[in-house]
Amino acid sequence: MKRNKIVAGNWKMNLDFDEAQMLIEDLENLLDDKQPSCEVIICPPFPYLELATDEATEHELFEVGAQNVSAFDSGAYTGEVSAKMLDSIGVSCCIIGHSERRKYFNEDNATLAQKVNQSLKYEIVPIFCVGEVLEEREKGIHFDVIRKQIEEGLFHLEAADLENVIIAYEPVWAIGTGKTATPAQAQEVHAFIRGLIKEKYGEDLADQQHILYGGSCNAKNAAELFAQPDVDGGLIGGASLKAEDFVSICEQASK
Ligand code: 13P
Repeated sequence: MKRNKIVAGNWKMNLDFDEAQMLIEDLENLLDDKQPSCEVIICPPFPYLELATDEATEHELFEVGAQNVSAFDSGAYTGEVSAKMLDSIGVSCCIIGHSERRKYFNEDNATLAQKVNQSLKYEIVPIFCVGEVLEEREKGIHFDVIRKQIEEGLFHLEAADLENVIIAYEPVWAIGTGKTATPAQAQEVHAFIRGLIKEKYGEDLADQQHILYGGSCNAKNAAELFAQPDVDGGLIGGASLKAEDFVSICEQASK
């Protein structure tokens, strides 16, 4: 089965309201002009989500994702944002388990599994991130690290639910460093992840699972990465803040 490509932009904690509005406008103009055939997702910070979903509904050029979601359903959890809230404003996906949340906010696999469950409960597609730090790669234990992240974060799911999850492989040493994984390195890990899914859920599900690459993916290297058989698109950080670069990446995912 041929999987469609997906390009998602993770804006992280950047831009003020006016800048966010401007970026959305620029993206709309360029996407409307270029009409890439891949699925396009933008993940702005929480305060700009409704602006983005309003635009998404009006122009149908992209879908909108959040960068985080609460592990809890509702109630006395000051500062948290629930999956139900995201759903109620038209957010259709959510990044879960980004390495920055694992590192700075101590999110462990058990918490992340709860976040995945919350998202799926409200039909929000989790974009579940995995990836090793440099030291783990240098020790040659990156496959073990990724296996554990996938098993503990996702393998409690029924096949019908895993089907609605997007996986993103983001080697931590490549995030924001300008040091991209080579296409061969990305392919090797993507194929490994697909193999894990095949082992547990069978070939059909493994074949249709989307696995994105993230980590210094930009307009210059995207084509080569996306040409790998198991790379189904990208999760883009820095380059998603520049409309021309992001849309160029989308075009490269549409060939
Ligand atoms: P960069 O593209 O800035 O390396 O960030 C990747 C990332 O973390 C996307 O989630």
